[in-house]
Amino acid sequence: MKNGVEIINLPKILDPRGNLSIIESEVHIPFKIRRTYWIYDVPGGDVRGGHAYRDNEEFVVALSGSFDVVVHDGVEEVRYHLNRSYNGVFIPKMMWRSLDNFSTNSLAMILSSTDYSASDYIRDFDDFKREKNNE
Ligand code: TYD
Repeated sequence: MKNGVEIINLPKILDPRGNLSIIESEVHIPFKIRRTYWIYDVPGGDVRGGHAYRDNEEFVVALSGSFDVVVHDGVEEVRYHLNRSYNGVFIPKMMWRSLDNFSTNSLAMILSSTDYSASDYIRDFDDFKREKNNE
């Protein structure tokens, strides 16, 4: 996608004892990791997110199960289905994004570039489009 959103494939070390994947800050993803959180026990049909960040960038991985990451850049929306633990979606700042279509027992890991800051959130889609157009 020309707006910088992309699926990044991570290293996968195949091993008969079990596979191993790696994320190194600023090596496999294009930002320094400041914060990690994860979303789990999502009831069927529920949606997480539904906001943009002014500064925060993130990388989202389905460590277990599957879900969709829906990203809107103010013009178009793209849906990414994640169901592998060796890839993820990079989402630059100023993208409207939500997570939905969670499978049972799915685990979403999100790596973030900034500390948590409530004031970094844009929670209204019209406000997002206005700020995006003024960039
Ligand atoms: P929020 O990002 O609003 O969740 P959603 O994915 O549904 O948009 O976060 C939900 C709550 O968790 C909110 O009260 C803030 C808190 N929270 C933190 O304290 N630190 C964090 O790093 C995150 C992501 C959330």
